[in-house]
Amino acid sequence: MTCFAFLFGKKVSSDIRRDPEIDEGLSGIRIKVYTYKELKNASDNFSPANKIGEGGFGSVYKGVLKGGKLAAIKVLSTESKQGVKEFLTEINVISEIQHENLVILYGCCVEGDHRILVYNYLENNSLAQTLLAGGHSNIYFDWQTRCKICIGVARGLAFLHEEVQPHIVHRDIKASNILLDKDLTPKISDFGLAKLIPSYMTHVSTRVAGTIGYLAPEYAIRGQLTRKADIYSFGVLLIEIVSGRSNTNIRLPIADQYILETTWELYERNKLVQLVDISLNGGFDPEEACKILKIALLCTQDTPKLRPTMSSVVKMLTREIDINESKITKPGLISDVMDLKVRGAKKNKDMESTSSYNASSGSDSQGTTTTVSLAASSSTATTSTFIIKHDKSM
Ligand SMILES: Nc1ncnc2c1ncn2[C@@H]1O[C@H](COP(=O)(O)OP(=O)(O)OP(=O)(O)O)[C@@H](O)[C@H]1O
Ligand SMILES: [Mg+2]
Repeated sequence: MTCFAFLFGKKVSSDIRRDPEIDEGLSGIRIKVYTYKELKNASDNFSPANKIGEGGFGSVYKGVLKGGKLAAIKVLSTESKQGVKEFLTEINVISEIQHENLVILYGCCVEGDHRILVYNYLENNSLAQTLLAGGHSNIYFDWQTRCKICIGVARGLAFLHEEVQPHIVHRDIKASNILLDKDLTPKISDFGLAKLIPSYMTHVSTRVAGTIGYLAPEYAIRGQLTRKADIYSFGVLLIEIVSGRSNTNIRLPIADQYILETTWELYERNKLVQLVDISLNGGFDPEEACKILKIALLCTQDTPKLRPTMSSVVKMLTREIDINESKITKPGLISDVMDLKVRGAKKNKDMESTSSYNASSGSDSQGTTTTVSLAASSSTATTSTFIIKHDKSM
């Protein structure tokens, strides 16, 4: 294998054309660099048979590196400017940290126009393509496995939020970014939207990025980013894991389309247990299931300050501390304050036609994601620009 540990900015191979923006962005970072030829060989010339998915910024291929190590090779689309920024952020963030519940970045390739990221290959795909795939997966998620996944993701996020300095806000916690290894241990992936928040700052102001359905309303409206925005997304994910349903499903009657709204309604009627995935056939502890749903409601409360920290969430999930039910207040629903509800196919179509695409768009094997830039206005703020991903599977 011709890949080598490489300190960006210190050593430039004369026969390979490099992008000065990327060289500058990566200067001083120690990362393994693969040649394009190596990755082409590893993925059998990026053959469609090896394609395992496609997101907003490019395609992902399974590959076998020299020496036999399996890898997921993410080829970022060349024309997207947005992609360069994401590429640099991803490398900056993930190359420095390691945790049982985070994906591992093996290295990258930056030859000519090619921008490629190489990760450890995770055998069981993502939660979106398995648990939430509506029966299109042969993995059975029993109750213990679901609890293990909730705790694993919570630990990964607690690590990013509280152990890493400066703290990292992921900004795109969602089912397709939770990958599963052969033992169904969850690994948080996709750090392209991540932001570093120095400890002396309470928040950073930023253009809003993320995925509809998981976006904390206060962040979507004011663009003020804190760790609580991730905690909101995590709360939505918890509900998805317990219910086996995507956060939004426009095929359901209007009253049932948004799972967070449904969860709150059932909570108020003391009927949370009705939300638990029927495919479990009753094979779960109802008290524990309701507890996880209540933790989800704590995490998605409208007032960010009321949401617990991720380390407390871990303790609640592992029963080290009790949850204080009297503290649960109404969730923040982005649909309450912004006209982002997708009421059926017509509205969906309108949204797409009035949106200007500012990043590469694509769909995976299930035709899921499109990254769009939307102008949205709210009652509390002037019109703001969003880079949000709109999940077509809704
Ligand atoms: N390390 C990996 N191991 C196995 N499969 C992976 C790995 N990384 C990504 N994938 C697969 O490729 C798919 C596409 O990933 P990608 O991150 O590009 O897009 P996405 O998460 O679906 O959407 P978005 O662009 O909104 O993040 C994932 O859903 C997953 O199925
Ligand atoms: Mg992803």
